[in-house]
Amino acid sequence: MQLLKLGGSVVTLKDTPETANMEAINSLAKMLGRVWKSGIHDIVLVHGAGSFGHSLVIEHKINEGVRTCEQKLASAKTHAACVDLTSLIVDALLAEGVPAISLPPALLISQTNKRICKFDEKKVLDYLASGYMPILRGDMVPDTELGNSVCSGDQIIARLGKKAERIVIGTNVDGVMVDGKVAPLITSQNFAKIEAHLRPSNSPDVTGGMAGKVKELLAGKVSAYVANAHHVERIEALLMGKKALCTQIEF
Ligand SMILES: Nc1ncnc2c1ncn2[C@@H]1O[C@H](COP(=O)(O)OP(=O)(O)O)[C@@H](O)[C@H]1O
Ligand SMILES: [Mg+2]
Repeated sequence: MQLLKLGGSVVTLKDTPETANMEAINSLAKMLGRVWKSGIHDIVLVHGAGSFGHSLVIEHKINEGVRTCEQKLASAKTHAACVDLTSLIVDALLAEGVPAISLPPALLISQTNKRICKFDEKKVLDYLASGYMPILRGDMVPDTELGNSVCSGDQIIARLGKKAERIVIGTNVDGVMVDGKVAPLITSQNFAKIEAHLRPSNSPDVTGGMAGKVKELLAGKVSAYVANAHHVERIEALLMGKKALCTQIEF
């Protein structure tokens, strides 16, 4: 299994509420259509929520618990927006001949205090084994302490990643940047030094940005490539087992 994460920074315009980046979605779908037709059928795609999630979560302050009727309405609206974004991605993939099937995180995942405590990974693996491309996303999921909480696409990747042969994290920068250059390799040994270079992103983000991403991967003890998904040829190369400009994260 290969895991491909498409960040909210790629599939949405992160600073414009509920706006998809259709140009990026369409060119990624075309690329995935090519990869699929070349016989690579082992990809699970996880996308971030970007401007379909983060701004609603911040506006309604539902990152620390969903209890009141008003918060439940906000949580349901956030979920509905995330579903809309998935539909756009699935439709683009279907148009390119990829049998993409959306699997709702709220049905597969439960959290305790914003951390995954249950994940029915078998559903994902079964769909993959039967010849589909499972599509998951960062979304609101049930939480035993908070009612509902945000489960980031990065956390889903770290969790599913334990069973993956390759993880490709597509974002809107060329990799993890240190002094204006792409850091070629991050390990738990050099992360403390690199962490100082990771600023919060300028766009609304409730799941920790680049620092959150790298921490999830290292904590989950999974290796991954972080690459710029606005350059689809880099993602394509990595999925085909070739080299491309990226940061390699090696736990
Ligand atoms: N040193 C760094 N290297 C790479 N990205 C960084 C760094 N510092 C901050 N960032 C920010 O992290 C963002 C990527 O994280 P995030 O916004 O969560 O992306 P995504 O939506 O793809 O998950 C980049 O767009 C960038 O603004
Ligand atoms: Mg993010």
